[in-house]
Amino acid sequence: MTGETSTLAIVRQSVRHDSAAKHVTGQAVYIDDMPEPAGTLHVVPGWDRASVCGRILSLDLEAVRATPGVVAVLTAEDVPGTNDCSSALGDDPVLAKGEILFFGQVVFAVVATTREIARRAARKAVFEVEAATPILTPDQAAQADSMVLPDYQFGRGESAAALEAADHRLSGTFRIGGQEHFYLEGQVALASPAEDGGMHVHSSTQHPTEIQHTVAKVLGVPDALVTAEVRRMGGGFGGKESQANQWAALAAIAAARTGKPCKLRLDRDDDMIMTGKRHDFRVDWAVGYGSDGVIQATEFDFLARCGYSADLSLGVNDRTMFHSDSSYFYPQATIRSRRLKTNTCSNTAFRGFGGPQGMVAAERMMEAIAISLGEDALSVRKRNFYTAERNLTPYGMPVEEHEVLHDLVAQLEASSDYWVRREKVRAFNQHNAVLKKGLALTPVKFGISFTLKHLNQAGALVHLYTDGSVQLNHGGTEMGQGLYTKVAQVVAEELGVTLDRVRITATNTSKVPNTAPTAASSGTDLNGMAARIAARTIRDRLVAFLSERHECPAEAILFRDNKVIVADQAFSLAQVAKEAHMGRVHLSDAGFYATPKITWDRETATGRPFFYFAYGAACAEVTIDTMTGEMTVDRVDLLHDVGHSLNPAIDIGQIEGGFVQGMGWLTTEELVWDDKGRLRTHAPSTYKIPTASDIPADFRVRLYESKGNPQETIYRSKAVGEPPVMLANAVYCAIHDAVASLAPGEVPDLNAPTTPEEILRAVRLQRAKAHRTVAASAPAPVSDSGETD
Ligand code: MTE
Ligand code: MOS
Repeated sequence: MTGETSTLAIVRQSVRHDSAAKHVTGQAVYIDDMPEPAGTLHVVPGWDRASVCGRILSLDLEAVRATPGVVAVLTAEDVPGTNDCSSALGDDPVLAKGEILFFGQVVFAVVATTREIARRAARKAVFEVEAATPILTPDQAAQADSMVLPDYQFGRGESAAALEAADHRLSGTFRIGGQEHFYLEGQVALASPAEDGGMHVHSSTQHPTEIQHTVAKVLGVPDALVTAEVRRMGGGFGGKESQANQWAALAAIAAARTGKPCKLRLDRDDDMIMTGKRHDFRVDWAVGYGSDGVIQATEFDFLARCGYSADLSLGVNDRTMFHSDSSYFYPQATIRSRRLKTNTCSNTAFRGFGGPQGMVAAERMMEAIAISLGEDALSVRKRNFYTAERNLTPYGMPVEEHEVLHDLVAQLEASSDYWVRREKVRAFNQHNAVLKKGLALTPVKFGISFTLKHLNQAGALVHLYTDGSVQLNHGGTEMGQGLYTKVAQVVAEELGVTLDRVRITATNTSKVPNTAPTAASSGTDLNGMAARIAARTIRDRLVAFLSERHECPAEAILFRDNKVIVADQAFSLAQVAKEAHMGRVHLSDAGFYATPKITWDRETATGRPFFYFAYGAACAEVTIDTMTGEMTVDRVDLLHDVGHSLNPAIDIGQIEGGFVQGMGWLTTEELVWDDKGRLRTHAPSTYKIPTASDIPADFRVRLYESKGNPQETIYRSKAVGEPPVMLANAVYCAIHDAVASLAPGEVPDLNAPTTPEEILRAVRLQRAKAHRTVAASAPAPVSDSGETD
């Protein structure tokens, strides 16, 4: 690959995101910015603000209908086709019928001349609901055996017996909170009726094909009558993989009913209340280990709150299980998962897709082992890393690049000055009673591929025009991650043109059909390959044409800088394209790519679910205030493996953004449902995402100097969208470390998110343990430290 690297012109360059300037000048068009077609009507979902769950006894919509400006009011009866917008299982009604299953479930929709009229009218509905007792928490659901999907488990050996026989044992329960996506552009769709019952839908979605299928299904028309289009999203983060369906469906039903274009843009509060989030978990874990800290056996029980329907919970929870090893070899393991049904919104994909929850549980277990042995957690971690001999994951896939893991962690250990700072942290904590510091260095190993095998495919459509300009289309969607830019770089490279010659066009189901969602971080891997195949096919046709015409060998023909070099002559690509066209050469191609090597069989829990792993490591230092629970992140060092980067600037952006989003999840972002099941944190006033001021004061981010992806990915790069989220595990572990310092040898009780309240709770418990320990060893403890509980 080195030869390829040295001749590359555009790939590997830090070219700017294609919309960077448009984003900051406001010229990037989002759906709500598009000029509305004449006669556009507005759709607002209607729901019962007083109910969490129960049977609908009556629903009076007279006042809604009578509101001037209201054109139609839709209920379940008005769905012309199938009343379902689920990805697969048929359990997500577009409009609820007969029963409300969670606070915020949509029961009707108002179509009016303005959004404001529709909003006001929707409030006039009169519900009569026979309230039922909701099942809200994972504990309640587990007790009631309430599940959206069957339990699943895999593992290796006899973990129960091995735990019993282990030298040391630890166990505990860890609660991990969910996360609201908080995309800046909320859910939105604009549906326009077309001839012959057709429908054109602009949707802010990561999955245009599923929008097409859902709209066709709810309208009862063939897929071929529906086109879904998306130029860009103002963020998706997994929240628009399946959760965009309902809003596109409602807009389309309204458009079919009224014959007018219909737009639905969710109000921010409605968006936060109605749409699914990251799954929150209760994790019961147990580990057996030797005096050297090396794990002998583990057991995990992952209890996930899935909400009222299955949505993507199968894949999300499987990925939690796949990542419960983090980077560690478990000789014997049992990993169990329960997918619990609750009367809450239906939880869904969120950057990392369940992986972060599995990994942070493993990291917490590592901290616990280290504390119990009085060792440094990094030493214990390294002893448990996968190696050449101990390289099989609990699901049987070998970790082929274990040496990357070791090398990357060793580099970060050195560059972050880990051991010197460990001593400084220890000294700081000895001299400070109120403020306590914590330090942690944690690894990331994230499996790349959809674990549903059939999703690992992509298509692209490339046109070369006779003036030498290029149009590019593929099945991937742009949500800010830079996919369009990277794929354009690939096409420019293959055709030897400058980037300004490549016109990127909106993702459209009528150009590239039957696509996978842009998810699982594999957008560039899949669409980049499909686009390269299409571009190469066109180039190969031009080479064949030119080599015949100029009687020169194919190897003597080179595409570069908008020129084609044929032996000792240079032509512009425009000239070549025109001549080829006159010679009746096809200048367009549809590329198709399917990821090789993936063989996972869920039934037997055998095979290979991932094409490869992406690696990284993070070192975080934090300070907590034991009086107030406040926490500051003092310094963070990140080292991340993207193989040979296609675009270092964009990759660094993904690493920084992913880390900060992960940090938000583990520290400040707290979802609060009251005991009746109403989401109380449904606006930025009560839900705290990280802001610019939360970025670590000292933030050092570097790309790992990779030898390139050993798998044949696009220019030997690696996926980067999700893995950096899990770099934030270092922040959680550093806080854990700071709390632990209050009572050496005692494992803190610290759940996530580590809000000030949670830190304060953990500090109190830890101090109580310290007092117990002191009391046990010395009957009359003296407290001269000034510390109080
Ligand atoms: N980056 C930005 N700016 N906005 C997003 O919505 N989504 C993330 C990640 N990075 C997201 C993002 C998620 S959840 C995924 S799966 C990947 O981007 C999807 O894009 P990719 O496959 O092209 O990396
Ligand atoms: Mo990302 S959670 O796979 O959309």
